[in-house]
Amino acid sequence: MAAGSLEANELSEAPALVLKGARNPLTETIHRWMERRAVRFSIWVFIALAIGGAVEIIPMIFIKSNIPTIESVKPYTPLELEGRDIYVSEGCYTCHSQIVRPFRWETDRYGEYSKIGEFVYDHPFQWGSRRTGPDLARAGFIGGPMYKNSAWHYNHFMDPQKMNEQSIMPKYTWFAKKEINLDMVPNKIRAMQTLGVPYPEGYDEIAVDDLMKQAKEIVADLKKSNIEIEPTKQMVAMIAYMHKLGRDIAPPPVELVEPSGEKDTVDKLHFINTEQK
Ligand code: HEC
Repeated sequence: MAAGSLEANELSEAPALVLKGARNPLTETIHRWMERRAVRFSIWVFIALAIGGAVEIIPMIFIKSNIPTIESVKPYTPLELEGRDIYVSEGCYTCHSQIVRPFRWETDRYGEYSKIGEFVYDHPFQWGSRRTGPDLARAGFIGGPMYKNSAWHYNHFMDPQKMNEQSIMPKYTWFAKKEINLDMVPNKIRAMQTLGVPYPEGYDEIAVDDLMKQAKEIVADLKKSNIEIEPTKQMVAMIAYMHKLGRDIAPPPVELVEPSGEKDTVDKLHFINTEQK
């Protein structure tokens, strides 16, 4: 085999820069001339993008009717809000998503696919990006494939393996012991109001009463299954939150409120044709 010989390393160099000076309209287009001026060109690009960005973004923030809302979707009750905060702090979103995509294999398993208007009161939304466990967007949809009653949730949080032998979900036994912080409830309502959630003026003052009322209903529901728990435990808030997910969208068909006030007939048709299993 013929042996090759090594070339010595050569420095690579760009061709010498020839300064072109002013534009000659016969030999150079305006575009080429602009591109030659790196700093100025960058500034022009920045200005053009800023105008384009502003035109897109500013109406999105300020024109409320751009946000499709669904009449039947209501803000979280104070108890549900507490449950939601526990959901976030426990990192449930690392294993569970909350968005059903519009595909047959998703809607068959979880129920009606998610609509953008369902998330208007989520700050921040809990779509998640991983499904180690099932999607929970329809966990509270009565009659849907994901619905479980209060006692089921209680037993599942205490010991997931008891409800599903192969479950890898961790136990959350402290939900039955740890209290929710009632002092924070009015603050949370006010925080949500500043983010645009339409609680009535002064609702923060009666929020704790509402919370206790809803909590007692869940406690009574659990009692029917011989489970004793105090209304202020985290477990109760978590069950309330699980039951809120997707519930507002349950049939009969909802009316989607479009910016113009017209109904979205395509989506309405879909609701009518979709058989909820
Ligand atoms: C390590 C991943 C993991 C974490 C963290 C986790 N889960 Fe799960 N979860 C699962 C798996 C897997 C299942 C399916 C098996 C089962 O039912 O336990 C499941 C099932 C569920 C179900 C039943 C769904 C159904 O109807 O079949 C609910 C409700 C639920 N999880 C809620 C939660 C909540 C609330 C949290 C946070 C407090 C949480 N999970 C944290 C993995 C997880």
